[in-house]
Amino acid sequence: MHRGKGMKFVGDSRISATKTSQIPKDYSEYPGRTEAFWPNFLLKEWLAGSVFLVGFLTLTLVHPSPLGGIADPTNAAFIPLPDWYFLFLYELLKYEFASGDYILLGMLGLPGLAFGALLLAPFLDNGPGRRPGQRPVAVGMMLLALASVVWLTYTSASHVDWEARAEMDKPIPESEVAIDTEHDGYAAYEASCMSCHGGNLEGGPAAPTLVGIEYTAEEIADIAVNGIGGMPAGIFTGSDEELEQLSDFIMSVNESTE
Ligand code: HEC
Repeated sequence: MHRGKGMKFVGDSRISATKTSQIPKDYSEYPGRTEAFWPNFLLKEWLAGSVFLVGFLTLTLVHPSPLGGIADPTNAAFIPLPDWYFLFLYELLKYEFASGDYILLGMLGLPGLAFGALLLAPFLDNGPGRRPGQRPVAVGMMLLALASVVWLTYTSASHVDWEARAEMDKPIPESEVAIDTEHDGYAAYEASCMSCHGGNLEGGPAAPTLVGIEYTAEEIADIAVNGIGGMPAGIFTGSDEELEQLSDFIMSVNESTE
């Protein structure tokens, strides 16, 4: 008797009733060429997975990824840079065909095309073959994408001064200076000076510290208005009274540390 005769089967809508070639034969029909899912296949998968997992964990421990530091609103010298995994998109925007008038192409067009192609991949490449050699288009595109991402990331990274960035990202050291935020001059300091000289007068990449300086209140007031060396003139634009309070505030911080 024919197997299953008189029985009703639940159909799979993807397989037409007349076409049976897509129904895989039982693995026992290919002795030596295939294997049982459990435990043979699963064990192999699991082993390969563990090797990758341990490899990744070791890599992250030995060579931590260069991630940016904590955001610091008082650091005016900070130059934003995408994290390493987005550097390739950032580098793409430096090319003439992807910037300026063509910026939309660089921002949306090319990346959209690449990720859109990824979505369409199952429809564009639906051959039955599983070996890389049988799928030259899909494998070629993948290798091309991979090579471009690696190349762009590498080019971008080689233009960055990583040591200077690490310095820039360093957290601001906890100040030992007592900052009296209730002081009359603090508001003026916060408004005009903090962006360069730091929230605790500790200085930053753009300006030296104002702690331990040897100026009189009059000299500080003069510097605030007329600048000094690399500090431009005209930074402070408030009233004379506010100026006096400002220099008094900087003096008071210096006195509190002596
Ligand atoms: C644009 C950034 C910037 C701002 C804003 C700024 N400064 Fe400066 N400041 C500097 C730089 C740079 C120097 C170092 C100048 C030099 O020696 O070449 C400096 C130096 C100083 C010095 C002398 C420090 C020393 O050790 O010689 C004083 C005092 C000072 N600033 C006060 C102020 C005050 C007060 C304000 C707010 C009104 C202010 N600064 C705002 C950039 C800035």
